[in-house]
Amino acid sequence: MGISLRSRWVFLPLVLALGAVSLYFLRLSIFHEAQPVPENPAPPKKKGPIYKDSHREIAPPLPEYFPLAAKANSPADLPPIPSWNKPPAEHVPESTRLYIGFTRFWPLLQQVVVSYITAGWPPEDIYVVENTGTMDANKRGLLTIQNSFYMDYHRLTKVFGVNVITTSSLQTFAQLQNLYLSEAINNNLTYYFWSHMDVAVHSHEDKEDFKSLYMRAVDVIRETQQADYLLDKETGKKGEWGVQFFAYDWLTMVNVKTFADLGGWDTMVGYYGTDCDMYSRLSMNEYHQPIQDAGMIYDVTNSLEDLEILYRRRPKNAKETRDTSDGKAGRDNSTILSLNSAYLDSTEPDTINSTHFHDLKATLEQIQQDKRDDKYRNSWQLRQNGGEGEPYYYDPDGFEKALQMTIEVGTKINEEKWGHRGCNIREAGVKEGDQWRVEHDGTFKKRKMKRRWF
Ligand SMILES: *[C@@H]1O[C@H](CO)[C@@H](O)[C@H](O)[C@H]1NC(C)=O
Ligand SMILES: *[C@@H]1O[C@H](CO)[C@@H](O)[C@H](O)[C@H]1NC(C)=O
Ligand SMILES: *[C@@H]1O[C@H](CO)[C@@H](O)[C@H](O)[C@H]1NC(C)=O
Repeated sequence: MGISLRSRWVFLPLVLALGAVSLYFLRLSIFHEAQPVPENPAPPKKKGPIYKDSHREIAPPLPEYFPLAAKANSPADLPPIPSWNKPPAEHVPESTRLYIGFTRFWPLLQQVVVSYITAGWPPEDIYVVENTGTMDANKRGLLTIQNSFYMDYHRLTKVFGVNVITTSSLQTFAQLQNLYLSEAINNNLTYYFWSHMDVAVHSHEDKEDFKSLYMRAVDVIRETQQADYLLDKETGKKGEWGVQFFAYDWLTMVNVKTFADLGGWDTMVGYYGTDCDMYSRLSMNEYHQPIQDAGMIYDVTNSLEDLEILYRRRPKNAKETRDTSDGKAGRDNSTILSLNSAYLDSTEPDTINSTHFHDLKATLEQIQQDKRDDKYRNSWQLRQNGGEGEPYYYDPDGFEKALQMTIEVGTKINEEKWGHRGCNIREAGVKEGDQWRVEHDGTFKKRKMKRRWF
């Protein structure tokens, strides 16, 4: 507004001079780019995306970790479970529902399911929650074993006799937890169990007063139902429990009412940190979280070579009497029957706490050690990368990358929620109701926390 006509005339030469100088440099840079003239001029630049190196080694197909089950049609075709682990013929009066979530790597799911069954857990109480995001593809047998979301639906439901619930789309860890809770509420359960899928369990055969892992878990249920459970005799105040932990949270029993009272899991915190949030809120609200023991629980990254070992049979004599079929047996009944009777004829039940048990224990300990030595503890999640073109296919590298990013943002959300970095939220002195209302504490000044892999 204040620029007079006269001063405009003063500025004009300056503007023109500036324009000339920039034009000069622009031309100069174009000229320099063009020098020296390449012998084979580069083809004109194409519009469009620049692709990453797309070379990908497709991992070899996974081996069969349970050949007997591959040939079986029903639970009757499997070896009987060890006599000392058999659940009571009539179901215990208590409900014993167990949820096991599954997204990737079938061999570990098969192993955890078989280990619970052979440790006495009734198959009809086991609920595999298929969280692959592939809808009915596994039910219809449409995925190949090199697809990381592959799951043998037929074997789970028809041979092992467990239940499968399929999520409508991929759920985060926290969403999956809320699904268990909601399933329990809809089924009028007052408590339930859930297990990690990357564990293998076994009964304490070497302990005095033997009880199977399952019956020890039932004992814990009964303990929580005692009238004087968590009763402070001095004050007469009765405490309430939130969870019962068996080997960290590898097997966990959940009190439905307590979790519902706290509003369930925070699904804004999808993966790591959401357990810190949940269990910290339990303790802020004075809900007890006792540590229990029902049996051995191993954190594993691999399957035993042949799950038959969990049925604890041993060869009848020194002669080589194992399965002598030509391996071509399909699902023809007569072949299966002769195969299984040959297997049963050539083996006999082992005894409790035998040397075979101690060998098995050592093997499971070794598998657990392998996982601890593995820098990326969850590398089992990356062992299948095939399946391109199959229903609901998702690029495996993209899946992993997106998952890691989702994990990271969830961790950040939890930090903002409590103004605190790290799992020990109570360290910040916060209480229920302080969520989203406190400023960052001193932990934000420290170097960025190292990520916890568990
Ligand atoms: C749960 O309890 C309600 C009320 O007693 C009943 O109507 C319903 O059928 C029960 N649901 C199941 C799955 O048992
Ligand atoms: C189980 O076997 C081990 C090794 O032989 C032995 O030390 C232990 O006492 C046994 N336990 C029981 C309950 O018999
Ligand atoms: C195999 O056995 C099942 C039940 O055990 C029966 O329904 C089926 O018809 C049998 N198949 C053949 C080919 O015999």
